[in-house]
Amino acid sequence: MGNFTTGVKETRFYNDVISGLSGFPKQLFSKYFYDAIGDKLFQQIMNCDDYYLTKCEMEILELQTEAIIDSISADDYFELVELGPGDGTKSIKLLKELTHKKADFTYIPIDISHSVIDNLEALVADTLPEVKTSGMNGDFFDMLNQLRNSNGARRVVLCLGGNIGNMTVGESHAFCGKLRQSLSKGDKIIFGFDLVKNPKIIRRAYDDSEGITKRFNLNLLERMNRELCSDFDVKKFEHYCSYDPETGSCKSYLVCLQDLEVHFPEAVIPFKKDEYIHMEISQKYTLSQISDMAHKTGFVVDRNFFDSKKWYVDSVWEAV
Ligand SMILES: C[S@@+](CC[C@H](N)C(=O)[O-])C[C@H]1O[C@@H](n2cnc3c(N)ncnc32)[C@H](O)[C@@H]1O
Repeated sequence: MGNFTTGVKETRFYNDVISGLSGFPKQLFSKYFYDAIGDKLFQQIMNCDDYYLTKCEMEILELQTEAIIDSISADDYFELVELGPGDGTKSIKLLKELTHKKADFTYIPIDISHSVIDNLEALVADTLPEVKTSGMNGDFFDMLNQLRNSNGARRVVLCLGGNIGNMTVGESHAFCGKLRQSLSKGDKIIFGFDLVKNPKIIRRAYDDSEGITKRFNLNLLERMNRELCSDFDVKKFEHYCSYDPETGSCKSYLVCLQDLEVHFPEAVIPFKKDEYIHMEISQKYTLSQISDMAHKTGFVVDRNFFDSKKWYVDSVWEAV
């Protein structure tokens, strides 16, 4: 146990958690939701009735695949880099169509979750054996640096689902600026953005009636118990979510139900009754915010692809 806990303290996960829980307000990075259990829970979220995002984006990818592929000019060799692919159900649609069109490309999925990369590589090898795949496991902020230094092939980046939404507007601008530095003029990005809409619809998506989002949030406390030897009693925490239509920010929290202490190797974190941990942001956008972000970070919006309700957009950007 001694050696194990010493190892734990040297991980980035431990250091991020202790610094996030020692500040005010307490917060955790949402990227840590995704261990093997978190990946499965996220799949359940995508399939639940209240979570409209996946259905909207699937509709776009199913009904407008040809036009999307035309917009990325898939005639010459390119690298298709996907940031945070999750279970890959959406990407597979594009990969199938690209294969059908005999496009010459290498698929490079990048994800922080080991199991996502392992499962996706197996899925692509199984269903589309002709696709060259080269998965990268790690934080896409770090991986962008590695990409910057590699070969010079034309790149198309996919960043679908809730990925960009899990950053604040300021963080998204910084992220797109950094992404631009690892791309060349003419490279493309397909960004999924959830659009502003009736606040009740948005809030329900993050506080679903089946309680899956609640389990997804609590799993991060359980993950810390499993991997960082902490002693969270998850029954003492309650999931809460708010949406502010003025800022377009939907935020998830875990609220502590009583005064208590949580023990980690070499750290004790006190909680007051009703104190919260900020778990995740899911930012919603207007179309003018999206084009403003593209312009300010070195891109232009080429085309926008909407679902039939206009709740969601896959926005194709070109680096200028
Ligand atoms: C909200 S899910 C979206 C999955 C997929 N894009 C979709 O639309 O269904 C976020 C995905 O990004 C990954 N992820 C989150 N933060 C990350 C980070 N900082 N670096 C790399 N992967 C990350 C997660 O493991 C997960 O697979």
